[in-house]
Amino acid sequence: MSKTAVITGITGQDGSHLADLLLEKGYTVIGLTRRTSTEPPSRMRKHLWDKVIQFSGDVTDSYSVESLLKQYQPDEFYNLAAQSHVGTSWKQPEETTKVDYLGVLNILKGIQLISPHTKFYQASTSEMFGKVKDEYQSETSRFYPRSPYAVAKLAAYWLTVNYRESYDIFACSGILFNHEGPRRGRDFVTRKITDHVAKYKLGLTKDPLQLGNLNSMRDWGYAPEFVEAMWRILQQDTPQDFVIGTGESHSVRDFVEAAYKAIDVDVEWSGENETEKGARSDNGEIIVEVNKDFFRPAEVELLRADASKAKEVLGWEPTVTFSRLVEIMVENDIEELS
Ligand code: NAP
Ligand code: GDD
Repeated sequence: MSKTAVITGITGQDGSHLADLLLEKGYTVIGLTRRTSTEPPSRMRKHLWDKVIQFSGDVTDSYSVESLLKQYQPDEFYNLAAQSHVGTSWKQPEETTKVDYLGVLNILKGIQLISPHTKFYQASTSEMFGKVKDEYQSETSRFYPRSPYAVAKLAAYWLTVNYRESYDIFACSGILFNHEGPRRGRDFVTRKITDHVAKYKLGLTKDPLQLGNLNSMRDWGYAPEFVEAMWRILQQDTPQDFVIGTGESHSVRDFVEAAYKAIDVDVEWSGENETEKGARSDNGEIIVEVNKDFFRPAEVELLRADASKAKEVLGWEPTVTFSRLVEIMVENDIEELS
């Protein structure tokens, strides 16, 4: 008999890639989707519409979570639902906490009471490391969250540990570093850049790209490879937490340079100081401007993964390099816009 898996957040970047992977493996996939006022029945990617069972609900609504668990008693439950945008979490801190913390409590309570055999995956994040101390962050590094998003995610991480230890539930966190690709939301910095560069290439914009902090460093990987790690985490004999990332870190400035390089444009940085630096193309046009509106009240300066446990125990290793990731995203955006 095929295994059954629930995915919350199936309309998001990771949810769609994970659904593709589990369907390929023969799973029956149930996606929790929220009702939307503008695009009924849901924002799920079209290619999944007739392959995934849609269950209407919301992780902040315990009735819908419990009904889902009662009806399907799934083998695996991947909780990817979140208000996942760090900047937005200062503007909507309550909503962020409800979805990213209370939503997880609803699911764990439900599994404990209704379906204790269900294996649970929690989408934890490198943002929990925040103001980092270690050069590379591993499962044993100190947590120091720097946003309402990261605080809620850290609380959810500890809740997952506690339900595992208290009720013997197979509950695990994947502590994933940034991962990107063609399905990334356009308000995250990578896709914002590649979307703009594609428009520039196609002559669809002459405006400079407006960005915030160019100095932050992120460990950017390729999303389809990261969802494979999620699945492997739930196939272990014992429930454990894993850091997943590439071990390489680049600045937002590096990402901008690589994206323009993908369309054969050299970037020359200018400006009075590091924070105000914008950029010109090799033909003198202003192509990047630093805009204070995109700065955050507190910043995570550097993230870089030590994923050696994942390599050793899960046999998981990323293969897509930083420059290839940027090319994939720019090429995709050019194709989508053409
Ligand atoms: P995403 O594209 O922003 O997707 C978020 C998903 O959550 C959407 O499907 C959204 O559905 C759903 N959602 C939001 N509120 C909900 C609610 N109240 N009830 C049910 N569903 C709700 O995020 P992602 O990049 O795929 O990330 C997936 C998960 O991994 C998130 O938990 C994120 O915090 C975490 N994470 C991501 C990264 C990364 O680099 N991508 C790294 C570490 C951890 P709607 O379409 O209805 O809005
Ligand atoms: N979004 C955005 N927009 N970020 C900008 C901009 C801009 O115009 N300009 C500079 N940045 C900087 C941010 O300040 C941050 O330091 C960095 O670019 C990355 O921002 P995001 O792409 O929004 O991602 P994130 O690192 O804050 O969060 C993502 O990764 C986390 C894992 O570390 C999200 O996917 C989170 O959900 C995830 O947990």
